[in-house]
Amino acid sequence: MYTEEKLMDEARQGEVVMAKSKSTGNRRKLYLESYGCQMNFSDSEIVASILTKEGFVTTRNVEEADLILLNTCSIRDKAEQTVRKRLVGFNIRKKHKPQLMIGLLGCMAERLKAKLLEEEKLVDIVVGPDAYRDLPKLIHHVEGGQKAVNVLLSREETYADINPVRLSGNGITGFISITRGCDNMCSFCVVPFTRGRERSRDPETIVHEARFLFDQGYREVTLLGQNVDSYRWNMSNKGEIKDPDKPTVNFAQLMEMVAQVNPDLRIRFSTSHPKDMTDDVLYVMAQYDNICNYIHLPVQSGHSDVLKKMNRGYTREWYLNRIKAIRRIIPSCAISTDIITGFCGESDEEHAATISLMKEVKYNHAYMFKYSERPKTLAERKYKDDVPEALKSARLQEIIALQGEHSLASNQNMAGKVHRVLVEGYSKRSEEKLRGRNTENAMIVFPKENHKPGDYVNIMVTDCTAATLIGHVV
Ligand code: 5AD
Ligand code: SF4
Repeated sequence: MYTEEKLMDEARQGEVVMAKSKSTGNRRKLYLESYGCQMNFSDSEIVASILTKEGFVTTRNVEEADLILLNTCSIRDKAEQTVRKRLVGFNIRKKHKPQLMIGLLGCMAERLKAKLLEEEKLVDIVVGPDAYRDLPKLIHHVEGGQKAVNVLLSREETYADINPVRLSGNGITGFISITRGCDNMCSFCVVPFTRGRERSRDPETIVHEARFLFDQGYREVTLLGQNVDSYRWNMSNKGEIKDPDKPTVNFAQLMEMVAQVNPDLRIRFSTSHPKDMTDDVLYVMAQYDNICNYIHLPVQSGHSDVLKKMNRGYTREWYLNRIKAIRRIIPSCAISTDIITGFCGESDEEHAATISLMKEVKYNHAYMFKYSERPKTLAERKYKDDVPEALKSARLQEIIALQGEHSLASNQNMAGKVHRVLVEGYSKRSEEKLRGRNTENAMIVFPKENHKPGDYVNIMVTDCTAATLIGHVV
């Protein structure tokens, strides 16, 4: 999930996301900053793991860094501009510390390849999302005065055997990636170019990671993939042999396996795709109390013609049918979405269809964006980015305002009821208060009494804003 606001928030969190400094001795220090989606944050934990084995120790203090790595996002132009500014700043620092190495990871590395290294000389190392195992070697190259680039995409890499170093950790909630890449080719999206072909990870390693986290005190895992519903593992393809006679594990079955790790381990997942989300998944959600009642189901547009141009693989009617299935099988399920305004050629009528769909679904939450044309995508090659910027902005403001009403109504609906909350940490405003989420993913703040992070508590919600619920322990 991405938003401009969230992106900035997370970029700021950059400092927070750094792993805690340990007693470091003379070990080299790595400062790692992550932007964009949850998958990037999860990948950064793999990078930290690989480099910790190499003798690096992570730091939150950029001043003492020997190596700065930026794990980057290309989804919209604005995301890339933020990173460029950051790189310029780091290069000023490098003038006073010439041995400082600066590396670009993630989607921008993959999209721009050696450009920021050779032409703009902003970085020393460029590594794409499937090449992180190569980092130690690339760092040696740079130390030897060479350039270091690896942007090869892979059809197999899932980093299944790497035990991530949990960076941002509250020690209670963690990410587990279950697929990498995307094969969908939505026409606006750069991800299939930056993250390559879709591949699924061995389910045994996923369950193992969930169990390991639970034993460490974690109480919630989020299963991550660009399109979790297309998760598919053939039990015999540990090597490369596909065996049609061997049982296959799909997403519904995988989720069930993870849910069985422990009833006190909550399961979330992201992102679902409307064209692939099956009723099987919904029935498994309904069956297990520890699978959270929350689905992020990006719609992108409420008009079938736009959806067709977006190459989303479903119509408005199909999407609304999936919403009906969710409401039928899990009546209390919270639903959120992603919406793009001002896609190529979007007419007033098509925009109005998005508004009417929002009114019909009444999302609990939404991430909303202006269309940003991305190089090489189908839309860039085929359609004109012809909705004027001012109109894109006006449409965005309109849907943000509408969603504000729906979010508030959804929170008001939760008031006056008791919610089971997993405590994630202390309120940002007060050490006397705790915060955590209910199964529908709404944040609830309450006086701590004698509770602590990791506890499940029942909270009576008495008050709310559009963003937060307020309550007390019952
Ligand atoms: N412009 C604007 N928003 C985009 N997204 C993906 N590509 C673009 C783009 N080119 C949004 C979609 C997607 C979310 C992750 O980011 O809504 O679901
Ligand atoms: Fe991009 Fe579509 Fe894949 Fe999501 S499903 S990553 S929007 S191509």
